[in-house]
Amino acid sequence: MVQVVKTIAGLRPLRSKLREQKAKVTLVPTMGALHAGHLSLVQQAKKISDYVLVSIFVNPTQFGPDEDFQDYPRDLNRDLSLLEESGVGLVFIPEVAEIYPAGFQTYVAVEELSQKLCVISRPSHFRGVTTVVLKLFNIVQPESAAFGQKDAQQVVIIRRMLKDLNLDVELITCPIVREPDGLALSSRNRYLNEAERKAAIILYQCLQWAKQRVEQGEACSEGILQGIKGSIEREPLARLDYAEIVDAENLSGKALVEKNSLLALAVFIGKTRLIDNMVL
Ligand code: PAF
Repeated sequence: MVQVVKTIAGLRPLRSKLREQKAKVTLVPTMGALHAGHLSLVQQAKKISDYVLVSIFVNPTQFGPDEDFQDYPRDLNRDLSLLEESGVGLVFIPEVAEIYPAGFQTYVAVEELSQKLCVISRPSHFRGVTTVVLKLFNIVQPESAAFGQKDAQQVVIIRRMLKDLNLDVELITCPIVREPDGLALSSRNRYLNEAERKAAIILYQCLQWAKQRVEQGEACSEGILQGIKGSIEREPLARLDYAEIVDAENLSGKALVEKNSLLALAVFIGKTRLIDNMVL
């Protein structure tokens, strides 16, 4: 049976026991509504550690006032059975007041990297992400933590935070998991109706088209981005949030596609904002 712990105090004895056993612990932080992408993180975590701890916490501070915090999919029973099947030992499921008790006012922000890409529609998102991830690292004290490459900006920001704050946590990243037609798995795909679900493959089509262009010798970012903008404009259910070609390590814009250039996309399909990316 997967063990469920809801409080920080409840986690402490287990953490001490694992430390005594010198067990290597990997944390897989999630917001629940788990899919095969999350489970790939769990599988990777199992390969490299003695004990996998998954957290499920829909973190209010990473949602803007007009975003979907209230409506974010929550499916705890299903999540727990998936984790049980995956052989996870422990799931940490704190309440909001456990993580943000009354009077809470300390945030951590990775300043410059948080002002890129997603900032245009989610200005305080990454401050919420880094704050909760740092808190989870302090609470769980894992040796390593696993994140999905779909959230490429999140990975770059957390890597910077680890370095800047001298945190002794190894960052593990796992490749994007896709549906057979290429749509990147995301808990928010559940919001899409049938027509939107079909339209949503535009993100992957744009990434693939761009990759082909680069393989054929196109090196000018602007030309590729214009092509993507045109394709998205032609899809009636899609609206571009951003398309950028950036350095995969520091997210700075690249006029020319080079080794390690990342094409990052955010596109509204109906009301649902989806992100995806590919190294070109
Ligand atoms: O990637 C996510 O699901 C979230 O941003 C995370 C890392 C669990 C923090 O709330």
